Amino acid sequence: MIQKQLEDILKAIFKSCDFDIEKVTVNLSNRPDLCDYQCNDIFKLSKVLKKSPIEIGEKIINSQLDIVKKTFKKFDFVSPGFINMTLSDEFINTNLSKMNSANKYGIKSSKKETYVIDYGGANVAKPLHVGHMRTAIVGESIKRIIKFMGNDIISDIHMGDYGLQIGQVIYGLQQEDINLEAIDIKILNRIYPQISALCKENEEVKNICSNITKELQDGNKEYQKIWQKIMEISKADMRGLYDYLDVHFDLWYGESDAYPYLEPVKNLLVSKKLLEESQGALVVDVKNSTDKKELPPLLFQKSNGAYLYASTDLATIYQRVKDFKPNHILYVVDNRQQMHFEQVFRVADKSGLMNYENLEFLGYGTVNGEDNKPYKTRSGDAPSLADLFKQTKEIFISKREENKNMDSKDLDIIVNAILKFADLYNSRDKDYIFDLTKFSDVTGKTGPYILYTYLRIRKILRELNLEDITLNNTIYNKIDRELRLKILQTPDVIENAFQERKPSYIADYLYDLCVCANSFYTTNHILDLIDKEKQNNWVYVLNLMNNIIKDLLNLLAIDIPSKM
Ligand code: ARG
Repeated sequence: MIQKQLEDILKAIFKSCDFDIEKVTVNLSNRPDLCDYQCNDIFKLSKVLKKSPIEIGEKIINSQLDIVKKTFKKFDFVSPGFINMTLSDEFINTNLSKMNSANKYGIKSSKKETYVIDYGGANVAKPLHVGHMRTAIVGESIKRIIKFMGNDIISDIHMGDYGLQIGQVIYGLQQEDINLEAIDIKILNRIYPQISALCKENEEVKNICSNITKELQDGNKEYQKIWQKIMEISKADMRGLYDYLDVHFDLWYGESDAYPYLEPVKNLLVSKKLLEESQGALVVDVKNSTDKKELPPLLFQKSNGAYLYASTDLATIYQRVKDFKPNHILYVVDNRQQMHFEQVFRVADKSGLMNYENLEFLGYGTVNGEDNKPYKTRSGDAPSLADLFKQTKEIFISKREENKNMDSKDLDIIVNAILKFADLYNSRDKDYIFDLTKFSDVTGKTGPYILYTYLRIRKILRELNLEDITLNNTIYNKIDRELRLKILQTPDVIENAFQERKPSYIADYLYDLCVCANSFYTTNHILDLIDKEKQNNWVYVLNLMNNIIKDLLNLLAIDIPSKM
């Protein structure tokens, strides 16, 4: 990790100057024309050390430590309080070689912990649509990053499988006299929206559906049987779509699996004296004296005995703690559910189920259309995922003549790259505008651009087919240096993406890396070089870079097509 390494070196320099400091931070330079990395702490440290920034700065840059000469080509103090660092060629190349030979580019695994990640969250019997794509894509990537850092992680889809929609579908099936054997996905996809719309205008139907749901939850045999069948069909359909997205869950649990733990949770809340009665319902107060906005109590059980979304989420924490003793539970859920999770986390903490700090709400923004409202098709519905995949493929094919002849497996890989890259380079907490035409271009900040760059470089490497090469200490020109410096950032980028649970850092970096690689390639004609040593060195660098691109794409769950 270059940043950490430079911080350690700076600390040693401070120490050699008799400045006793605890921590110093090094950042990438925001003026790459002046230096590669910078330290902006001198001003702050001058207060701690009770010396002027100039005095500290001058002493630091005049340090005679060997490591200074080895590490930096330029090491300057800039008023009022910055240290500018330009790395030496030797330092850059030594670190590139280390990255090349180390496992995972020398990234030190984090302290091995156990995580549970809750994403996907699809609702049984409701067709998956574009709105479900983001949690699947973001969650899968966060899962892969956490695993890459050496942790254990258990993924759970946490289906909505016991809510009102099931009552509505059962009601619809009964109305049409459809028997168990005849139920299929087409019927489910048709009935749910129909009855859900009816419930909005007809209170009586809504009550019937609620009662069916309650009876199902209480164990009504007939409803249980229909429910099993709905689950089977719906899950098979979901699996197909998630498989297409290369999104995989260890557990296909749902809200229903938390039901056995509602009683123990209720007992726990009672024993901690947290449950209060409010208009016949049981609630838990979650207010904090420091709250800026008043947080309503968590509704645990309705007056008719029914449990709610928050209760099953608490019971699910109970279940996860019992089964896996996780250090962290992560939720990749729509931003609009933030309050719900705030309530749940506070109750989990108060009751001793799990500490607040170890429960993380990783909210994501909405996928919007050009009107900045949730993305809809022309007919006004959110497009189903299956249709969206088809549409993406068609748009990509229409882009270039040669796309028409692509192998169908490659096309599916590209559809994934288009959708995932566009989703992931947008910071997960922000909304974004869904523009398939732009996303499927081979130029610009797109999945196809990254894949295209990778394949272009791979072609050169295959043509040259050089093996067992080593890196000397030369850097040949400006863009060569830029590319090497960029590559050096890889471990820091992965580490930051892990710390902040933000795959967008990786997607952004991949783009920058590819821009660099493309200018490198256009400036440096590597294939017909006469200077073989130079050629070897460049092959080494490009090979390392391509391995990185491949690994980073894998962290975004993007595969590589055979050709484009
Ligand atoms: N099924 C929920 C929905 O569609 C999302 C589930 C998120 N996970 C959770 N543990 N509540 O809104």
